[in-house]
Amino acid sequence: MRSVCIAGNWKMNMSPSEGRAFAKALVEALKDATVRVVVAPPYVTIAPVAEALSGSRITVGAQNMSDNLSGAFTGEVSAPMLKEAGASVVILGHSERRALYGETDEFINRKVRLALAQGLDVILCVGETLAERESGKLEHVLATQTAGGLKDVTSRDMSRVIIAYEPVWAIGTGKTATPEDANAAHAFIRGEIAKLYGKAVAESLIIQYGGSVKPSNVKDLMAMEHIDGALVGGASLTVEQFAPIVRYNIG
Ligand code: PGA
Repeated sequence: MRSVCIAGNWKMNMSPSEGRAFAKALVEALKDATVRVVVAPPYVTIAPVAEALSGSRITVGAQNMSDNLSGAFTGEVSAPMLKEAGASVVILGHSERRALYGETDEFINRKVRLALAQGLDVILCVGETLAERESGKLEHVLATQTAGGLKDVTSRDMSRVIIAYEPVWAIGTGKTATPEDANAAHAFIRGEIAKLYGKAVAESLIIQYGGSVKPSNVKDLMAMEHIDGALVGGASLTVEQFAPIVRYNIG
């Protein structure tokens, strides 16, 4: 059995004080959760959230990081800074960063390798646009983003990597991939990982689904063989929605 990880990507929401209060409420609401839970606040909210979550089972992630360790990179934040602030994982290659900030597979790969070398776990996001899906490029896009993002990552380090399959057309739109479509994409990604790293690594890899995950669809998604968790955006911002998603397997 693969383990399960549910992550909340807060995007550009939650100030330090809002994040601290929300984290305290989550600790209470998720006391009986059985799966791994990560929340990824904006940079400035990481430290107060990490403090509020200390001693709980919820861990803290970042939504991005610099591809350099230190120096003259105005506006950037490094892996060691994120660790000191309390993050243990970083989301890399999110489609918003690819589309809005021009991040390429090569650039994302530099960050993936740096994060792993610095002791941060990685959630690597991959996924196709609607135009790519409709023109038959789904598998090509997934294969390219997976291999490109993981270039020169060792099989040993793969135990600290999660892949999030997020079809771009399903993010923030209310449109979810059907569980069957998502499962097929996950199975394809797992096959690509098997080609790169062998069957054992592929079988133990956590592949999250992301894109309009809600309390009403999480169970059907999680019932699929190759779906091992969720990367949740909008619905990770309230206890009312995030708690039932994390507790999809309880009661
Ligand atoms: P959404 O975002 O759940 O709001 O669709 C998911 C994501 O972008 O990670």
